[in-house]
Amino acid sequence: MTTTRSASAPIPSQTAVQALPATMRAVVQPAYGGPEVLRIEAVAVPVPGPGEVLVRVHAAAVCKGDVHLLTGKPYLLRLMFGLRRPSHGVAGQEVAGVVEATGAGVTAFAPGHAVFGQVKQGFAEYVCVPATQLAAMPTNASFAEAAALPVSGMTALQGLRDTGKLQAGQRALIVGASGGVGTMAVQIARAHGAEVTAVCSTRHGEKVRSLGAERVIDYTREDWSARPEQYDVVLDLVGDRSLAACRSRLTPTGVYVASAGEGGEWFGPMFRLVAMSLRNALPGPRMTSLMAAPRQADLQFLASLVEAGKLRPVIERQFALAEAAAALGHVAAGHTQGKVVIAV
Ligand SMILES: NC(=O)c1ccc[n+]([C@@H]2O[C@H](COP(=O)([O-])OP(=O)(O)OC[C@H]3O[C@@H](n4cnc5c(N)ncnc54)[C@H](OP(=O)(O)O)[C@@H]3O)[C@@H](O)[C@H]2O)c1
Repeated sequence: MTTTRSASAPIPSQTAVQALPATMRAVVQPAYGGPEVLRIEAVAVPVPGPGEVLVRVHAAAVCKGDVHLLTGKPYLLRLMFGLRRPSHGVAGQEVAGVVEATGAGVTAFAPGHAVFGQVKQGFAEYVCVPATQLAAMPTNASFAEAAALPVSGMTALQGLRDTGKLQAGQRALIVGASGGVGTMAVQIARAHGAEVTAVCSTRHGEKVRSLGAERVIDYTREDWSARPEQYDVVLDLVGDRSLAACRSRLTPTGVYVASAGEGGEWFGPMFRLVAMSLRNALPGPRMTSLMAAPRQADLQFLASLVEAGKLRPVIERQFALAEAAAALGHVAAGHTQGKVVIAV
């Protein structure tokens, strides 16, 4: 469902800031494992510190990063996120909601503003976020659609525009075009004036075409890396083809952007990414890896694309907060069309 309102106008029912409850419902992760380790528990409502905003979460989207933090795999991740058990407590990185309170020094947002952004501990009724990681929600987006944007949208945008340097009139190939990142990438590449070829399976072909892909390669029937066409930018969200084959599909000035890659349980795609950067010693096309970062300007740019009708998040399924384990299980299975959203 899509709601329409002015970006800065408070949502009427939220205008008055009510007394906050002491506790809230949150999806707590006490251990690494499958979705079954997740628990809905009452935890303290966080208090915004200086520069932070307390958001009443209305929708939270699930991204692949949430699945990695759930399983603790590749194990290398545990060096950063807790060796024996996860240090984050509550998962969830993409939210949309309404500002409930602001910490000292926050001037850009006020209670009642509808916002979206990249957060930590977003699978909860309230979350504290640095104001610099939030933006005003697109005026024509629902909370579910806005929640679907931050991580997947910024990954697609930064991969194509910043790392790939995609220009109007160039040819872009999106591998894994049907997923959370891919469905954004197809639309963002089109919004940049590129000619888009998408790689996906048979059942997603029609949807990906409807998002603007001129050509679709069905990976269940054909290997894109064995075809003759060459591309200016390849955004690879799967990483299951050999590096030599991937490089051969680039124009002489082309860029291969790897956002994923197959690898073992310990190190994930690390060795593939190192081997890829070594190839850059050779003259010709470049091969680069992508680590998307939260940026307010990019959130604002994504919102402007939505408002201009050039980007519309694809939402495959919505779950209730109590069904968060099922939502993560669905994304972990790896066949999502677009995004999965948890209504909070
Ligand atoms: N570098 C970063 O900063 C960053 C940020 C976000 C995500 N990522 C990574 O990017 C990758 C994609 O993320 P996502 O959120 O889009 O995942 P997702 O939502 O799970 O989507 C994956 C999609 O790929 C399709 N697929 C599976 N095998 C394929 C193949 N061989 N060729 C083409 N499509 C295939 C799946 O559909 P079917 O199986 O039904 O075909 C599914 O629609 C993940 O590995 C994630 O970890 C990286």
